[in-house]
Amino acid sequence: MQKVTLSFFLLFSFFALLNCNQKPYAHGKIMYENFCVNCHMEDGSGLIGNIPPLAGADYLTKHADQLACVIRYGLEGEITVNGKKYSAPMAGVPQLTDVEIANIINYINHEWGNDNGYTTITQVKNQLKNCQ
Ligand code: HEC
Repeated sequence: MQKVTLSFFLLFSFFALLNCNQKPYAHGKIMYENFCVNCHMEDGSGLIGNIPPLAGADYLTKHADQLACVIRYGLEGEITVNGKKYSAPMAGVPQLTDVEIANIINYINHEWGNDNGYTTITQVKNQLKNCQ
């Protein structure tokens, strides 16, 4: 009987691990769908002329240390993403917690073929202390 219990336990752990590996940024994805998808779109392509893309965007690596500030406080003024200029303002989402912001950053940095490294919650907290 004990063996059976153990096998079930091992099987369960195996599937739990498998599931976890498949969707490492599932929470960030949910947050993205709630707060960002209307403008930046499901495929991260943005809206031509108005809203910059996140998929393949050089901004994410060039301004990696400002992403938490962009999400919490928004962004104003002209910016360049992949050689194109954008100037419509983006409103921030002040109600997101530091953890939620970290999850969103990790999601957008690993979705749509992006591979921009991992951002820790400590990094997010430090960034948020220095937003201009
Ligand atoms: C109402 C539309 C809108 C929403 C919602 C929105 N954005 Fe934006 N976002 C913009 C616009 C417009 C810009 C360009 C701002 C500028 O030109 O200064 C921008 C710029 C950005 C940039 C920098 C440029 C780039 O493309 O890399 C990032 C990163 C970004 N947004 C991420 C997010 C994330 C993450 C969310 C959700 C938490 C979000 N945005 C929600 C409209 C939006």
